[in-house]
Amino acid sequence: MSGRKRISVFASGFGSNLQALIDYNKKDDLGGDIVLVFSNNSGARALERARKNNIKAVFFDSEKFNTREDYDLEILKLLKSERIDLIVLAGYMYLLTPFIINGFKNKILNIHPALLPSFKGTHSIQEAFDYGVKISGVTVHFVDEMLDHGPIVIQEALNIGAEDTLQELEEKIHKIEHRIYPKAVKYFCKGELLIEGNKTKILKSKPER
Ligand code: GRF
Repeated sequence: MSGRKRISVFASGFGSNLQALIDYNKKDDLGGDIVLVFSNNSGARALERARKNNIKAVFFDSEKFNTREDYDLEILKLLKSERIDLIVLAGYMYLLTPFIINGFKNKILNIHPALLPSFKGTHSIQEAFDYGVKISGVTVHFVDEMLDHGPIVIQEALNIGAEDTLQELEEKIHKIEHRIYPKAVKYFCKGELLIEGNKTKILKSKPER
């Protein structure tokens, strides 16, 4: 791996993780540039954030495609034409088909607001809270064909206090996300991640903080 990576962020909603990546790249260096933000939702705030930062923002309407595969093939064309090296999923709520997952094998990162393999799916923070776990956290992982699955890059845990509200837990989780996602993306862009089976080695471990 060499040179600056061309990154595409996929987001369906608010885009606070996208914003954290953009902000990080302004004061520090991800080792790559976010050149494309893609969404399946025309109203995604993430698209606005992209435009505000002069990043190409693209929406495809899934209803105009017969199948998910057709949809992903169109995205693949876009990714190829933009010479994308890395896909960063940041709240992308539309399942990827194997066309993209295999086309970008070991080149797709996802962030999940729980300690995988616990609390997979879309309501992880709420579910962890309702379950009453005393420790939860955030996982950044490579994406494979299974849901919320693939070699883990970074995990960070946090304690849930008896008095914590769901809202407080959400805020703490998002704060961790915004700190560790740029770190994981940077590891990738600098060529510091080595996948061996289901494990990811960070080649040049640097102090975390
Ligand atoms: C984050 O909690 C992320 O972990 C999950 O979706 C949420 C996206 O939030 N995959 P935002 O759109 O980045 O604010």
